[in-house]
Amino acid sequence: MNRKNIVAHVVGARPNFVKAAPLINALYEKDLSQVIIHTGQHYSKNLSGDFFEILNIPEPDYHLSVGSGTHALQTSEILKKIEPILLDINPDLLIVYGDVNSTVAASLAASKLQIKIAHIESGLRSFDRNMPEEINRVIVDHICNYHFVTEESGLENLAREGIEKSSIFYVGNTMIDTLKKSLEKAVCSEEEQFALLTCHRPSNVDSKEGLLKLLDICKTTKTKIIFPVHPRTKLNLEKHGLLHEFEKINNLTMKEPLSYTEFLGHMKSASFVLTDSGGIQEETTALGVPCLTLRDNTERPSTIDIGTNILIKDADHLQEQIKKILDKKFKKGKVPKNWDGFASKRISNIIEEIVIQSS
Ligand code: UD1
Repeated sequence: MNRKNIVAHVVGARPNFVKAAPLINALYEKDLSQVIIHTGQHYSKNLSGDFFEILNIPEPDYHLSVGSGTHALQTSEILKKIEPILLDINPDLLIVYGDVNSTVAASLAASKLQIKIAHIESGLRSFDRNMPEEINRVIVDHICNYHFVTEESGLENLAREGIEKSSIFYVGNTMIDTLKKSLEKAVCSEEEQFALLTCHRPSNVDSKEGLLKLLDICKTTKTKIIFPVHPRTKLNLEKHGLLHEFEKINNLTMKEPLSYTEFLGHMKSASFVLTDSGGIQEETTALGVPCLTLRDNTERPSTIDIGTNILIKDADHLQEQIKKILDKKFKKGKVPKNWDGFASKRISNIIEEIVIQSS
């Protein structure tokens, strides 16, 4: 390729698509060429293709088709397959998103080729190295050149880790840009009061013990629960012979993963959300919907300090909080600074300058 001013985006998994869509579209307003590389970490239609369509992301220029595997297999496969592509494109800037394996693998390949990297959603820390995503976040932040931060804690974390201040930009949250833009298309057919449940973290769903805890939560919660089941969770429910136990619960409706607009509609209409996802903690804060997070920690503390999120300690704590919500005594929450739908606009202005200065 011999075009000038090229930015390349690497996306691989469902949350990446939601974060990248508004930035890709904002960068079309600039005098830049864009290349999209899809690693294929997520490949099912309902986790990948449908998101490209609904979020108006152009077809990827390159598809690595790496699929599932152990962390080492998935990461090494991306490393191997992306290197020749990066050499061919030779972008002025590589943009990576969030904390998934595709993010760390692409960053590692690019940094060894001396390609400049911008990390969107930089600086988040759970301080829990048992989470694969935490390892990915730390590595990416220490090898990338530009850090785009979503919340206050990110600034503190990066400063403590000695990251050069001039490389850090507090721009807000591109995931919330997508949310704001999509709200009017959000759909939900539920008429009764319901809670929305998502659970896919290895720490909650890989072991039988974790799944039994979740089963107990579903049995003791009396509100109707809608549960779109992530493929990782489905696989483990089958592996541990627990799928039928969940199916037997009267107030629980299990579904295939929902499309972005359906999921947004359900989040917006739910009385509360039960989740172990990172992004959903932020989306519920933006919507003002109570979020009960089934984890010991979060890398997104602003959703707790400012927003509508709370970490659940145990089964009793959960039922206490549900009661508070139903009695309308749960905290109201505010929205963190710059979660206003314009993060991508801010990032695109900074990226334009970076790329023009480097050419
Ligand atoms: C990945 C991310 C996680 C993110 C999540 C969002 C890492 C380390 N993890 O986890 O941070 O929150 O995506 O969904 O990068 N599968 C399918 N279809 C697919 C993809 C996966 O059926 O398109 C199944 C496979 O059985 C696979 C399992 O889901 O083994 C897990 O997929 P994987 O990409 O390893 O991790 P996620 O749990 O999706």
